[in-house]
Amino acid sequence: MRVFVTGGAGYIGSVAVEKLLDAGHEAIVLDNFRTGRRASVENAATLIEGDLRDRVFIADALARLEPDAIMHFAGATIVPESVAKPDLYYGINTVGGYNLLEGARLAGVDKLIVSSTAAVYGSPEEMPITESTPTRPVSPYGTAKLMFEQMLESYGHAYGTRWIAFRYFNVAGATYDHGEDHRPETHLIPNALLAVAGRRPPLEIYGTDYATRDGTAIRDYVHVEDLIDAHLAGLERIEHVSGPFNLGTNTGASVGEVIAAVGAVTDREVPHILRDRRAGDPPVLMADAARARELLGWTPKRSTLDQMIGSAWDWMERNPDGYER
Ligand SMILES: NC(=O)c1ccc[n+]([C@@H]2O[C@H](COP(=O)([O-])OP(=O)(O)OC[C@H]3O[C@@H](n4cnc5c(N)ncnc54)[C@H](O)[C@@H]3O)[C@@H](O)[C@H]2O)c1
Repeated sequence: MRVFVTGGAGYIGSVAVEKLLDAGHEAIVLDNFRTGRRASVENAATLIEGDLRDRVFIADALARLEPDAIMHFAGATIVPESVAKPDLYYGINTVGGYNLLEGARLAGVDKLIVSSTAAVYGSPEEMPITESTPTRPVSPYGTAKLMFEQMLESYGHAYGTRWIAFRYFNVAGATYDHGEDHRPETHLIPNALLAVAGRRPPLEIYGTDYATRDGTAIRDYVHVEDLIDAHLAGLERIEHVSGPFNLGTNTGASVGEVIAAVGAVTDREVPHILRDRRAGDPPVLMADAARARELLGWTPKRSTLDQMIGSAWDWMERNPDGYER
């Protein structure tokens, strides 16, 4: 298939392009390099530089290139930034999403697989989270993503658009060629590795008095390659399945456990400082991904802490300056 990949220069999108090409698909990357890296785009992919907020440009590109399907990873992704700059988040994630969806409809592209997030749920009490857990986002980031999911649902009803919104929990790990190089980095695992490598100040751990195994917050981590396997399965099954799908492992690791695993993988202490809880951080977020398992046959194969941290560390050691080489 010819797949139009928005955000294909980003962390997750670049792995999607790698795996689409490996599976024999054609990949067209659309990116504006806001956070993505030019060097992360595979040579075998077609690259178009452009911004999702440019409605005419997006509609023209889709009409001209006539992809069979869209994988939509482009987005602004930092929760505190969304609180400070909601215009940016509604602009890119909601309006940009609308431009893509409407451009697709006009061009006759009726299959979309999009990146959504656990942030659409907010801070639910019941764990694990299923797709029918009420969506009550607590940040503009989560709201912006949920609004776009709602548009997909309306287009599905009205125009027969086939859509899958994958609600990712925490994504980690690397392939041999593609790893995480966000600037600034906000994710725990790469930040712990950067702290070990002496390339950032000691890691700050927010909250040590939660009612969890070791008092630190628990999150659900999934290997980026497992995540993309779900997208490839989605591409195959999208004529038959539609809607939101959680992607996580329902095992959950505490911040303390992640730090211990980073120490074990790197054989070094992770420099860290203990801080008070941050407002709005739920103690536990874990996914029930039974729907992805049952409808897409998805089973995570590489999502142990050792595999995620080991692959990320391997990539970081081989690419000490990330993609700035
Ligand atoms: N990384 C995670 O743990 C995680 C968790 C939940 C959801 N997600 C979602 O997954 C998606 C990918 O995340 P990521 O970690 O790879 O982020 P990323 O920042 O590495 O990638 C986003 C890509 O989108 C591009 N982009 C941003 N705005 C654009 C615009 N207006 N027009 C065109 N391109 C634009 C960026 O340049 C970048 O290449 C995002 O939608 C994010 O919300 C990620």
